[in-house]
Amino acid sequence: MRHLIIVAHPKKKSFTHAIAEAYSSTLVERGHRVACRDLYALKFNPVLSARDLAAMARGRAARDVRAEQAALRRAEVLTLIAPLWWSGFPAMLKGYVERVFVDPFLAALSGKKCVIITTAGATVEELKSAGTLRALRIIRDDGMVEFCGMTLVRHLILGGVLPGMSRAQGDRYLETVRRFARRAF
Ligand SMILES: Cc1cc2nc3c(=O)[nH]c(=O)nc-3n(C[C@H](O)[C@H](O)[C@H](O)COP(=O)(O)O)c2cc1C
Repeated sequence: MRHLIIVAHPKKKSFTHAIAEAYSSTLVERGHRVACRDLYALKFNPVLSARDLAAMARGRAARDVRAEQAALRRAEVLTLIAPLWWSGFPAMLKGYVERVFVDPFLAALSGKKCVIITTAGATVEELKSAGTLRALRIIRDDGMVEFCGMTLVRHLILGGVLPGMSRAQGDRYLETVRRFARRAF
């Protein structure tokens, strides 16, 4: 299948990037075609401007947005990989969605598969008891994936990813992601 992976973390050496690498290399090993957009490396502009809104009203989009939309059109599976920041996407990814997932392009997302992989400082149990897990499901799985007509394959939340995380736990998460990539596709 043709995959597009969107990674949103400013540090190349972050655990989030390690997860993206493990996921991507597993898919490549299995014969999938994988393209990756590292939004910080691309210096993507995430600020939706008055100009964008005016272009949108005319059914047009800025050149950088059109480039991202073209990459999305080619993909059958879209995967978003990012840390949880203030209980949401990093502003970079939030802005990517705001600028790129717009009419009339939005219809092109319909029928695609979508995977979300989130790294979080809190454990999954903590996110659950705080209600954050449910909020993420509503805002991302329903409010974004379903709203765009995509099918959610999995929203994988890897909790307890903090500077003190053990090497063993990190390795377990990398293996979880590899196993998921092998089984899902
Ligand atoms: C600006 C900022 C906001 C954060 N907000 C949250 C949060 O709301 N909930 C949470 O569980 N972790 C939060 N964290 C922790 C990150 O989710 C966690 O450190 C990150 O996923 C680890 O991945 P990394 O090593 O790739 O950065 C935050 C971290 C930063 C830098």
